[in-house]
Amino acid sequence: MPTYSYANALKNAYKVSWRIEDVLADRRFDPAKRWLPAPLSAAPALGWLGEEGQRALTHVELGAYAHLFGYVEEFIAPKVSALARDFAIDQRVAFDALTNFAAEEVKHMNLFRAVRDRVNGQLGFELELLAGEASTARFVLGKSTGAVLLLTAAIEWLTQRHYLDAIKSDDDLDAFTQTIFKAHWQEESQHAQLDHLETLRAFESMNAAERDRAIDELIELVAAVDGLLRQQVEHDVANLSRRLARQFDEQQSHDLRREILRAKRWTFLLSGVTHPRFEELFHQVTTPAQRERVGAALERLFSA
Ligand SMILES: [Fe+2]
Ligand SMILES: [Fe+2]
Repeated sequence: MPTYSYANALKNAYKVSWRIEDVLADRRFDPAKRWLPAPLSAAPALGWLGEEGQRALTHVELGAYAHLFGYVEEFIAPKVSALARDFAIDQRVAFDALTNFAAEEVKHMNLFRAVRDRVNGQLGFELELLAGEASTARFVLGKSTGAVLLLTAAIEWLTQRHYLDAIKSDDDLDAFTQTIFKAHWQEESQHAQLDHLETLRAFESMNAAERDRAIDELIELVAAVDGLLRQQVEHDVANLSRRLARQFDEQQSHDLRREILRAKRWTFLLSGVTHPRFEELFHQVTTPAQRERVGAALERLFSA
């Protein structure tokens, strides 16, 4: 069982901390390369697009990938900032670690906005991307802290998995993508550990009924994320059509929607909830019956 601490998280955060301008510099994406690795993209499942079409799909998917991280950071930053206040004045290390975490998410949002601008500039048009960040953040923050933290932990653990398993060692992947998500991975590593500590703290203070409600709310949040992914899938199809100056017939559109949704569900939900560190945390704060409820809900959701 890993042991995490606020003090270590803060120490490591200071060690890896980067500036947006150093990550971006004058780097550009290489149009001849894939901008997202195969495990995070629908491209490998869509051979009929042809090599150029598959590559173009990773370009629009990367724009959405970066946008969606910025999108979820809109609720992570205020949540963590609120949690930090519980430690104010008397528990400085925890306060400092969480305040720094929130500040890093603010930096990431600005990084991802700049990345979006570079993607748009290089593609020559403005990508259609999921809107409504503020109302989504309000909806999420209306749920119990336990539910929000479990969703957040899943997201931050998946950033670790994506970089280490799919981005870091893919030699055919665009180098700018690697630079951006290496930087994000470095800071997110501490966030995932702090989520772990904060989730345990939140659940410790809850009675059985409150825990049960948090699990129901987690199911609601996962369903809401899935609904957002579905919306972005529609945008991805439109973006690809524009990028390739090509219309898709009904069967092709259906294929694109199905495979892009499958890739996004893996990327933003399943690669998080099946991460071993997330599973450990989830087991610590739930009963077998609650885990079964979540499992059944995920199955229902993904068979729809
Ligand atoms: Fe982040
Ligand atoms: Fe984070």
